[in-house]
Amino acid sequence: MCGIVGYVGPRDSQAILLSGLARLEYRGYDSAGIAVIDGEGDLEMRKRAGKLQVLRDDLTAHPMVDGTTGIGHTRWATHGGPTDANAHPHLADDDKLAVIHNGIIENFAELKDELLAGGFTFRSETDTEVAAVLLGREYAASGDLVAAFRHVAARLEGAFTLLAMHQDQPGLVVGARRNSPLVIGLGEGENFLGSDVAAFVEHTRNALAIGQDQIVAITPQGVEVTDFDGNSVEVEPFEVVWDASAAEKGGWSSFMAKEVSEEPEAVANTIRGRFSDGAVTIPELDGLDELFLGIDRVIVVACGTAAYAGMVGKYALEQWTRVPVDVELAHEFRYRDPVIGPNTLVVSISQSGETMDTLMAVKYAREQGAKTLSICNTQGATIPRESDAIVYTHAGPEVAVASTKAFVAQITALYLLALHVGRVRGVLSAEDSAEAVSELEAIPAKIARVIETEQEHIEQFAGWMADTASVLFLGRHVGYPIALEGALKLKEISYIHAEGFAAGELKHGPIALIEPGQAVFVIVPSPRGAAELQKKVVSNIQEIRARGARVIAVAEEGDVSVLPFADEVLRIPLAAPLFEPLLAVVPLHIFAMGLATAKGLDVDQPRNLAKSVTVE
Ligand code: F6R
Repeated sequence: MCGIVGYVGPRDSQAILLSGLARLEYRGYDSAGIAVIDGEGDLEMRKRAGKLQVLRDDLTAHPMVDGTTGIGHTRWATHGGPTDANAHPHLADDDKLAVIHNGIIENFAELKDELLAGGFTFRSETDTEVAAVLLGREYAASGDLVAAFRHVAARLEGAFTLLAMHQDQPGLVVGARRNSPLVIGLGEGENFLGSDVAAFVEHTRNALAIGQDQIVAITPQGVEVTDFDGNSVEVEPFEVVWDASAAEKGGWSSFMAKEVSEEPEAVANTIRGRFSDGAVTIPELDGLDELFLGIDRVIVVACGTAAYAGMVGKYALEQWTRVPVDVELAHEFRYRDPVIGPNTLVVSISQSGETMDTLMAVKYAREQGAKTLSICNTQGATIPRESDAIVYTHAGPEVAVASTKAFVAQITALYLLALHVGRVRGVLSAEDSAEAVSELEAIPAKIARVIETEQEHIEQFAGWMADTASVLFLGRHVGYPIALEGALKLKEISYIHAEGFAAGELKHGPIALIEPGQAVFVIVPSPRGAAELQKKVVSNIQEIRARGARVIAVAEEGDVSVLPFADEVLRIPLAAPLFEPLLAVVPLHIFAMGLATAKGLDVDQPRNLAKSVTVE
């Protein structure tokens, strides 16, 4: 939610800011803006409602001064609609100081009243402008940007990453963070700030993660990080493990198309280096056996697609560890006074590692004394930093707003965790572990086969369905969260009404929705591994077929029992039942993408959404 980039160094900052914003646009695309300070010490700012391209076109038509110090912002509107005036940067009242912001300043109304009473005026409806004006006032009093920033940051409530620069201080960008992301990129004679490393990865892979309630000042010569009281703090360096090309579209029509094609690699990279002799070894979890032996309950917290990955993971965690597992939407969890304590392990799942709802759930769990483990795809992100343990997914950067490759990587990481904990607790035999490991090892090639053999067919068939008004998805057992995921993906990028149901729930209500022509995807369990469930699902298919539904079955290769009842059959390779979700979801991702593309929609940046939801 909102992307932020800052630069100081010898180069023209405009080009650097714009390419950083292009990489961050997934975080919000309502409006964009940049401000630079030129060699003469003049600050110039340009901002436009609409996607980044609108700003780019404006800058081409009316070029701005070159400047070697700059900040840039891409917005997902919170306070105030997506207008030019509400776009960032915001200036202090003397137009000499520019501020950009990600997050929500909860006490902005009282601060605004204070400033209005002091005679200050405002040009936007945003909470950010309040911070800009306040900072301008503090700076005018002290002439010290870092000290002024510290003062202001300490007065703000809520979540924020703020960057500021003042025209009297060229070569200096100051940043502060609380509950919102900010990372530093270390260059040679130049330095960068960004909401995530994508902002600067084309220039440097050396990064520093800034902690909670810290202030950073970057100059071309160096970086200084302090807490809100001005004490120096050590920050953790890390090297970005992927290069800039990984976050580029390459020859693909969309990031989503690229990322779906990377689903095999996402699984392969997440398991790489984590098996030895048929057992799972996760170096990050070394030394945590006591923790895993001491737990009597697991609660998975996550949102959206990540929560569906958690629902799939529950089956594996319970089967292999015999510890009871609950899966909760993070935003529901912390507000219901859950019963948790030192023997509870709260596992958070987040691609971005910045989702505010999930972050707050993790913090809440820690406050209650629970142990926390983060499954995350983004190095240096806030949620893993706030957790006792981390298992990274290695899906690579996910740019399209709709999560695809991260989903399969999240399920994979949960399976690795379940196998590890099962062995540590002595409830999973070495043979069963080895069997699961070999199933997982085979998954990347099987996903690749689904893409190779089914993609064209699915896209063609999605094209025929472009006018469909509603699609239902049914699944049972591990197929149920896949049905939910199929429905979410479709509604999210194609704006078609879609719902997922547990197939067994059909007769308890949803079957009333079935009328002639209603499209229903059904995830069919394996007739070999889950014969009993498979028969029940085939009965469900017959029930909806009898009422005129148009059935699209996702079924194992060779399962002919569905043929008499299905209008379309999408085939997935054979796998043990627990591993089928990793295959069954792939046709659904391809279908959603195919249908949205057929409708001419932007599959990477669907309306009203942002990739990283950093507000509650
Ligand atoms: C759906 C989607 C979202 C995210 C959710 C959590 O395609 O992408 O539902 O899964 O916002 O995001 P992370 O995983 O970054 O916490």
